[in-house]
Amino acid sequence: METFEDGGFGQISIDPKDRTLIVKKFVTKKNGMQNPKPWDTNFLLQEAICTFYFTESEFIVKLMGVNLKEKYIKTQRWPYSLRQAFYKFKITDEQKLFIFRDILYGMSHMQSRSIIHADIKCSNILYNHEDNTVCICDLGLSSIVKYAKVDVCAVEYAPAPGTKSSNGNKVIGRDMFALCITGAEIFCNIVSKEGQQRTPAELRKLIRENKVIKNERIRAGLLMMVPDDLSKAPTAMDMLKFIYGETRDLPLPAVVKNSNKRIFQEDLEFIQKTVFTIAEKYKIERPKRCFNSLVSFLNNPKRDPVNPKDYDMYISAALLIYSSLFSMPRLYIDRAFDLLSSGATREKFEEVVTIMATDVEFVNFTLNPHSK
Ligand SMILES: Nc1ncnc2c1ncn2[C@@H]1O[C@H](COP(=O)(O)OP(=O)(O)OP(=O)(O)O)[C@@H](O)[C@H]1O
Ligand SMILES: [Mg+2]
Repeated sequence: METFEDGGFGQISIDPKDRTLIVKKFVTKKNGMQNPKPWDTNFLLQEAICTFYFTESEFIVKLMGVNLKEKYIKTQRWPYSLRQAFYKFKITDEQKLFIFRDILYGMSHMQSRSIIHADIKCSNILYNHEDNTVCICDLGLSSIVKYAKVDVCAVEYAPAPGTKSSNGNKVIGRDMFALCITGAEIFCNIVSKEGQQRTPAELRKLIRENKVIKNERIRAGLLMMVPDDLSKAPTAMDMLKFIYGETRDLPLPAVVKNSNKRIFQEDLEFIQKTVFTIAEKYKIERPKRCFNSLVSFLNNPKRDPVNPKDYDMYISAALLIYSSLFSMPRLYIDRAFDLLSSGATREKFEEVVTIMATDVEFVNFTLNPHSK
């Protein structure tokens, strides 16, 4: 397969069968060695689910497929990343304004559903030079605010140690800080060297004194984005209003809770007990939501009923997905498979995990901040 780009996590290639798609293969890289580890599946699931949650947004890359056996996801292919585009094209000031607006649209969509991206930077923005549009990609560190992996992002996009954040570190303001650095790169030609970190005050000073930026509205916006206390940062929506006089959101999807019409009481009790016991063993948070979303999934009138002897596959699949999203992954696919007592094949189990991870209602239930 034609290698397209080497990401931090694995290989990015063009799908040889359909060249409009990008294949992102999850292979842990350690000491130059590439060997898939069972926990790669958890990172794959997390990225797939977070990306799929925004499938209606034109400002977030579209997920087109998940393959657990080969450990890859497919997304719609865009011509360049913004980082590549800056080398390749002369982008005008006017074009930059539209690019930045699209990034704010994408972030507004994520923030209106209480998700932080946690890795905003020019190489995670995709660019189409033909119509000057962009979308956000690489949701590999994204999750609902409390679980997003903000500590893993490239240090240049993180605030310097000691930066205040009265509500803790996992706040929308972390994304706004990274967006400000990205904006400083786009409009001010300020490019951080590897490992270089700044406090909000240092970043503001650089932007205030910058001679390249011509649009004072953008300058003021970038300055507002990084207050000393990052939990007081404005949202992407606030910035859209301030800079462009626009609003844009992606309303939370309705959580459909299908009531139980199919599962016998004793099976229901078995499912509940198993979910809570395994969640406790592997320190998976949100066990109640896991149970409720699973029961709702099994009762979805749009799906064929599941044979009770296969319930264990669905329980393990739901727990694996929740482990990927709401804990340090301790329940890996191998372990989740070992939990099965029904003698299902690995292939069948992977199929069930994929079905659940790409079921709109299950994903909405799982990531919706209001569902219980
Ligand atoms: N859908 C796509 N269309 C075009 N290019 C893409 C697409 N997805 C990824 N790329 C290119 O591949 C690069 C790496 O992809 P991605 O960020 O998803 O992988 P990653 O392993 O998380 O990388 P990193 O850790 O470096 O951020 C991107 O910076 C971009 O240049
Ligand atoms: Mg990336």
